Amino acid sequence: MLLLALWFGAAAAVFLLAWLSEWRPVGTASTVAIGKTLYAERCAACHGTNLEGQRDWKTPLPSGRMPAPPHDASGHTWHHPDDMLFRITKEGPAAVVRGGYQSDMQGFDNIMSDDEIRAVLMFIKGTWPERERRYQEEMSRRERGATVGG
Ligand code: HEC
Repeated sequence: MLLLALWFGAAAAVFLLAWLSEWRPVGTASTVAIGKTLYAERCAACHGTNLEGQRDWKTPLPSGRMPAPPHDASGHTWHHPDDMLFRITKEGPAAVVRGGYQSDMQGFDNIMSDDEIRAVLMFIKGTWPERERRYQEEMSRRERGATVGG
């Protein structure tokens, strides 16, 4: 009887822990880990396993479209403020650039939640060196200031 009670107690504890770990608030460490997995699943095929982008990414493809640029410090993802990166990922480059621009990258609107998109971007940002990270933070800060100030 006692053994049975202990067993149930242990099972309940394991269940509770699993439940708690699922419901952790969107904290930095776990968000980056989720973002890393999502990146591998959704982005790496084009942007590279190590964020290195496609070969000759500055030269247009025969289709006239651009190859996928790197997301590491050698690319220009870090030149863009947060809101722009979010919109490019959610709506796709064509919707953001407009004017009939065509891109091989589709928006992830129906594929990923907003939180998942933010997690992927957080993972990408976490790989940048200090200088690129600071620059991108400053751009984002200015962008927010511009929105608030009208
Ligand atoms: C089918 C290939 C493909 C997939 C998958 C893909 N991308 Fe892209 N991505 C591209 C291409 C191509 C571009 C260049 C945009 C253009 O057409 O000018 C691009 C551009 C971008 C840019 C703009 C970079 C810059 O420097 O301006 C961001 C940000 C981006 N992608 C994020 C993502 C994220 C995040 C994912 C995964 C959730 C992803 N992409 C998945 C092909 C892809």
